[in-house]
Amino acid sequence: MVSNQAETKNEHDNKKHLLISKSGPLYGECEISASKNAVLPILAACLLTRETVTIRKAPRISDVYDMVAMLKAFGAHVAEEDDTLKVTAKTIITTAPDEAMASRLRASFLFMGPLLAREGCVTMPLPGGCKIGTRPIDLHIKGFKALGANAVTVSGKVHTWGKTLEGTTIVLDYPSVGATENIITAACLARGVTTLIGAACEPEVRDLICFLQKMGANIRVSEGRVVIKGAGALHGAEHTPIPDRIEAGTLMLAAAVTGGDVLLKGAQASHLAPVSAKLVEAGAEIFPYEEGIRVRGYGARPMEIISAPYPGFPTDMQAPFMAACCAANGVSTINETVFDNRFLHVPELKKMGADITVSGTTAVIRGTGRLRGAEVNATDLRAGAALCIAGIVAREETIVRSIYHIDRGYEDFDGKLKKLGVNIQRI
Ligand code: UD1
Repeated sequence: MVSNQAETKNEHDNKKHLLISKSGPLYGECEISASKNAVLPILAACLLTRETVTIRKAPRISDVYDMVAMLKAFGAHVAEEDDTLKVTAKTIITTAPDEAMASRLRASFLFMGPLLAREGCVTMPLPGGCKIGTRPIDLHIKGFKALGANAVTVSGKVHTWGKTLEGTTIVLDYPSVGATENIITAACLARGVTTLIGAACEPEVRDLICFLQKMGANIRVSEGRVVIKGAGALHGAEHTPIPDRIEAGTLMLAAAVTGGDVLLKGAQASHLAPVSAKLVEAGAEIFPYEEGIRVRGYGARPMEIISAPYPGFPTDMQAPFMAACCAANGVSTINETVFDNRFLHVPELKKMGADITVSGTTAVIRGTGRLRGAEVNATDLRAGAALCIAGIVAREETIVRSIYHIDRGYEDFDGKLKKLGVNIQRI
């Protein structure tokens, strides 16, 4: 960050809460930022080469700042100019130097694949991230071991080593996004061919593959199967990550639920099919233009949602949609199938008058069409976005606390909402 940007960022960060009051329909247009979940694995994959890699439009979110800090701590040089990052990793170390940061950030574990591939060993703390379930790493480890590496976990640290990784066929029991990404990056420099069956096929995984191909990786993708022919070395490349479909989906929902009319520039309709389908079912109109997606709203209506791996309904949109269901008249159901504890927003929504019953991984929401403002806590990243949606439609004022969670993953979220007409300020 250049210094005056850093000062502005500090001022911004010192304001810890969001004050939101009921807002009318959202109108206007805004630009969707680059995807958090695409840029994080891409930043980790920069360590696969000694040459310079240029990432354009890096979103200004704290997860990116943390990944950049980790890259530097591993020994990479990172030149930052506006939203462009130039990463050069000539010599690197293989033990995560800042354990506290590594264990706070789930995506830190994505350094495992590239470091193992390049240096033949790596030690990382068990990853942290949003507390939305058990979040094991067994599938990552299974993949590394299948490639011929050894792995042990001692005192909260994972050590993997294996001088020569050998391509093989790996079947993932579940299409884990992170495990798919780690196995692909590890296999990029392995000897021979790796076939990954049951791989995650989220757009962010595809974007990582696209980036690796630009670096010279030999990767082919077909339905749920990724074939990687190991290369001797990868080279520098330039890449702009895809637009953030979760940010786009959240703003689409905010527009729809307030009965607004919004153009989200850069949003890609093909990445948002399940989100658009739910909004259309609930009466919204969606216009996929070349420049982005326009949403014309319907107000809040009940919905039935089941989250699932891509191309299913994204788990990251579950909490914001629950907030919208609370504001609807009638009964909605949400079944969360991806994470086993992703309802931490429920008690917070209840503080706003929501009537929600959770049984296992299913939530039944009895919407009364009314929410009231309250002081609530952003328990995780997407919960934070959900509480902002609730605040937009609630009577009276809402204060959302712990907004560092929101700042981890949404670039200028409140600024964008404000531009679209939401009464929102940092306090
Ligand atoms: C990524 C996204 C996150 C999103 C999630 C699912 C990033 C940085 N984060 O997280 O925003 O919500 O995908 O779309 O891209 N699992 C195992 N064993 C493993 C790995 C995962 O059992 O080794 C389970 C998890 O506990 C979870 C499910 O698989 O229940 C999905 O997790 P995964 O796809 O790995 O999510 P992340 O990569 O952590």
